[in-house]
Amino acid sequence: MKLPQLTIRGRTATIPIVQGGMGVGISRSALAGAVAHAGGVGTLSSACLDFLISKDLGYTVNTHFATEHEISSAQNIARSCGIIGINIMRYLDRDYVDSVHGAITAGADMIVSGAGLPLSLPQIVAKADIALVPIVSSLRALTIICKRWEKFSRRPDAVVVEGPLAGGHLGFEYTLLTHEKNALEDLFPPIKDFARKNGDFPVIVAGGIHTHDDIVTWITRGADGVQLGTRFLTTHESGATKAYKKMVVKCTKNDIIIAHKKMNPPGSPSGMPFRTIQRAPMFKYGAQRKPLCNRGYLLQKDVSGHYVICGAKEDPRHNFCICNGLLASCGYVPSTKEAPLYTVGAYAHRIKKIISVHDLLHELIYKRS
Ligand SMILES: Cc1cc2nc3c(=O)[nH]c(=O)nc-3n(C[C@H](O)[C@H](O)[C@H](O)COP(=O)(O)O)c2cc1C
Repeated sequence: MKLPQLTIRGRTATIPIVQGGMGVGISRSALAGAVAHAGGVGTLSSACLDFLISKDLGYTVNTHFATEHEISSAQNIARSCGIIGINIMRYLDRDYVDSVHGAITAGADMIVSGAGLPLSLPQIVAKADIALVPIVSSLRALTIICKRWEKFSRRPDAVVVEGPLAGGHLGFEYTLLTHEKNALEDLFPPIKDFARKNGDFPVIVAGGIHTHDDIVTWITRGADGVQLGTRFLTTHESGATKAYKKMVVKCTKNDIIIAHKKMNPPGSPSGMPFRTIQRAPMFKYGAQRKPLCNRGYLLQKDVSGHYVICGAKEDPRHNFCICNGLLASCGYVPSTKEAPLYTVGAYAHRIKKIISVHDLLHELIYKRS
């Protein structure tokens, strides 16, 4: 089957494959630019970009500058092919508005936003011509978002429906992750139906999509695009350290677990379930170590409105130091100083080697199993 194109707010990717945003520092410009150059959708991650770009440049830059810088690097690699987006997690409250403004200034094609409901996104974006793509894990979440966005005369330009097999943070209660009504196959039809009746915006499915055959299955079911994370994590172009990629290639099914601060500690201070390799040092030794907690990306406001609260600092037994753990997993904090944390999707154990984006896309577009 020839895969169809994917058009989002008038911009067309010649293949319906979206490389999902992967923070921290995994989907940098080298990865997103290569995917877009090949005709797909490359998604950067806004997480900790000020820190990463400051290290790269050797002087301190702010979030707005760093976001612009990263997007224009990806655009240079993509050379006007495909679509370049940036994933800005709603939970990264402190930097959210600056990341959005940086994306607009740089002329990114789209902003993808999940890890919380991006209810205020159209208001921040105002009249800028940029596609807005929420990530949801239920029809309820999408309905709430659409209702709120109506006030600003915006609809999603596309939606990513992420199921429970994905890597990173998961938008489900820990105990409901394996509930059959939450399987991507069950989440998709009512969301597609809703999208059809509300402007017919594209629906992109994510979580556990691994092969060409999986992609064909989803396109045949009516999905407009597929988003993959884990397959791109182990490409040469991804920002993951060699140790991280090697651990993915070696991991077994039983190594992949879901961390949660209450149900399987330590977990993410965001409170959301987080899929990880259990041998990843930050998970393995998390509860025994004192978190540095000197980055502050996940800070939440206290009652007086100041960004001071971080779960890792307040309760290190139940929360891992996610900022430093993920910065170590992309090599920006030495792993001798901070233990890395390796997030993966549920099918990471099926990956057997590290390949280029070119070879991966060739496999995904053409190779029937
Ligand atoms: C290493 C890694 C980091 C991720 N980081 C983010 C992130 O920062 N924000 C986000 O919305 N999703 C994140 N995700 C989810 C991906 O964007 C994508 O939706 C998901 O991985 C799809 O499932 P798959 O890994 O089974 O292909 C991450 C996934 C991985 C594997």
